[in-house]
Amino acid sequence: MHEEPTDRFSLFGFKVDRILGRGGSGVVYRGFHPETGQPVAMKLFHENFFSNAGHVRDLARSVKTFQTFEHPNVVRIYGFLSGDEGHCLLEEYIDGPDMRWYLENRPYDMQERLVIITQALNGLQYIHDQGFTHHDVKPANVLFTRKGQAKLVDYSLSRQGLLSMLTGRGGTDQVTPMYVAPEIIRKERPTPRSDIYSLGITMYYMFTGQLPFQADSLQKLYYCHLRVVPEHPSVINRRCPRNLGDAIMRAIEKDPARRWESCDQLRIRLADIGRSRI
Ligand SMILES: Nc1ncnc2c1ncn2[C@@H]1O[C@H](COP(=O)(O)OP(=O)(O)OP(=O)(O)O)[C@@H](O)[C@H]1O
Ligand SMILES: [Mg+2]
Repeated sequence: MHEEPTDRFSLFGFKVDRILGRGGSGVVYRGFHPETGQPVAMKLFHENFFSNAGHVRDLARSVKTFQTFEHPNVVRIYGFLSGDEGHCLLEEYIDGPDMRWYLENRPYDMQERLVIITQALNGLQYIHDQGFTHHDVKPANVLFTRKGQAKLVDYSLSRQGLLSMLTGRGGTDQVTPMYVAPEIIRKERPTPRSDIYSLGITMYYMFTGQLPFQADSLQKLYYCHLRVVPEHPSVINRRCPRNLGDAIMRAIEKDPARRWESCDQLRIRLADIGRSRI
């Protein structure tokens, strides 16, 4: 976890005590509700995150819907604040590390990782059932509570954010689009199956310890997403069983029609794989 103290002491009237993390879209602070003292995560967007006022309005409107979302594997959204201090998303504060930290620091445990990915799939299916696409599934957007429950964050924040990612603009610590589906590179509309692709890349990393594509430029990376079939996960990691490797390969098919139809379908397959290994 990269928590660091901050000299900022207030944001939109919330007391702030630390930075929880930084990403391509902004800085995430821990704040405390002025009346209840309840801790919240406050994502303060970078100035260049929003392309225009319409974009801000769109997000503010979506947030009204997100506020009604309630699922054990989805981070709750409390509201969206705009003012002199910028634009800020108020979210449930999650007190554990994110999955990026987990993968870098925890030893390989297949069953444990299957449980985590199953929880992420449950959350993602819920988001899809509400008629939304996540758009940014990756390890940094899976957070853990201290009890080890996985929760998806940063769902459907903006298509614009995604576009700026594709053109390489945006914040300086912009993450390389390692997880982006081929159809999005082709500028087609993202669908729930685009999320399944991103989750598939995440799984590839979880169960092999490496990303499927290692490219030294954005262009080459896109080429790989579009055309290169990576090595089967079970070839890279002998502790990744063949049927699990197959399930991952199906999630990252180039053609969305050949991928898993839904998160539920993949989740059921993983349950079988988990049982067959006990
Ligand atoms: N609701 C939250 N509760 C606790 N910590 C959070 C919360 N949201 C984000 N964080 C922390 O802040 C870090 C940075 O989040 P942020 O979303 O800004 O970056 P990112 O996911 O790496 O990139 P992107 O901006 O593309 O989503 C997360 O990885 C996590 O550690
Ligand atoms: Mg994030």
